Amino acid sequence: GHQVVLTTTDGARLELCCPPGGTVLEAAAEAGAALPASCKQGTCGSCHATVTSGEYDLGPHSALALPPDELAHGGVLLCRTVPCGPLTAELPYPQSRILYGGVPERAAEVESITTVARDTVHLVVTLTDSPDCQFDAGQFVELELPGTGARRAYSLANTGNWEGRMEFYIRLRPDGAFSGPLAERVRPGDPLTVHGPQGAFGLHETGLRPRWLLAGGTGLAPLLAMARQMAEWQDPQPARLFLGANTPADLFGEPELKAVAAELPSFRYEFTVREADPGWTGSVGTAADLLARALSAHTGPAPDLYVCGPPPMVDAVRRAAPDCQVFHERFLAT
Ligand code: FES
Repeated sequence: GHQVVLTTTDGARLELCCPPGGTVLEAAAEAGAALPASCKQGTCGSCHATVTSGEYDLGPHSALALPPDELAHGGVLLCRTVPCGPLTAELPYPQSRILYGGVPERAAEVESITTVARDTVHLVVTLTDSPDCQFDAGQFVELELPGTGARRAYSLANTGNWEGRMEFYIRLRPDGAFSGPLAERVRPGDPLTVHGPQGAFGLHETGLRPRWLLAGGTGLAPLLAMARQMAEWQDPQPARLFLGANTPADLFGEPELKAVAAELPSFRYEFTVREADPGWTGSVGTAADLLARALSAHTGPAPDLYVCGPPPMVDAVRRAAPDCQVFHERFLAT
C-alpha cells in the first residue's frame, strides 16, 4: 500500500497505509478513524482536505463540493482521492473532529419547540443518556425520530455544556422527512436519537485577524454557536455577523445575538433582507452585498470569513471578498 500522512490544524499526525486503488477516506476508516464525511460520493464537500505532496487520482465529484480554484491549489475530497504513491495532506480541522470510535449515537428527548420566524422553529433537545454534551461550535448532529428512519443533519446553535443541552434552528418543509413530522406531531418529552457531534466546520486561530460571520437563513445556527463561543472565551478579535433572509418575516435570532453583543464588546451584528416590507428600516440586499459594503469601509488586516448558507451565497461571498480567507460549512443544506 501507499503511505499517507494526514496532519490536523493542531498538529496531530495520522499515518495510514492505503491499499492500491483505495481512497484515503476508506483507509482512515479501516484504521478506525472516521474523518468528517457524509455523502462519500464527491457531492457534499465535507471530506475536503489539501494535498501538500504526492501524486493522486481524484475521482468524479461536483464543482460545488470542490470549486476549481481549490482544486488548482491541491484541494481534494478524501472520499474521491486515490493515492498513486506516498502522499501528505492537511486536514482543515483539529484532531477532536476525528471520530476514533465511529459516530456516537445518543438518546435524547425534546425539551421545547418554539416558532421563531416564518417556517422556522427553535428546537431544544436534552440528552437523556448522560449530561456530557461536549462539541465544538460549528459542528452538526443528525437527528432521528425513532421509528421513522428519518435522519437529517442540523447544526448546533449553542455551545458545548454539561447539561446535555442541544439547540437547533430548523426550517420546516411540508414534505421534509424530519421537519414534516416535527411540525405535525412531535411534542416536548418525545424521544429523539442524536448521531454526533460531527463535522469539520469551526473557528480557526489566525492571530488577531477580524472574524466576520455570514449567515443565510438557518445557516445562522453554527455561526451563532461560534459567536457564543467567542463570548464565553472573551476572544479579543473584532467580530461581526451578517444575517441575510428573504423577508423580515424570515429573520430570527435577534435576542440571542443581542445577548452575545452584551457579553462581547468587540462583536456587532447586522440583518438584511432581499424583499423589504413597509415596516422594514434595515438594509435591503443579500449578506454578500452587506459584506461588500463593509469591506469597502474596512481598514486593517483582511477579515477571515465564516459562511453558512446555500451554495450560491457562498459563491457570492467569495466573489465579494477575493482577498479574504473563506471558511464555509460544506455539508448542510440550509
Ligand atoms: Fe466526500 Fe461528501 S463525503 S464529498
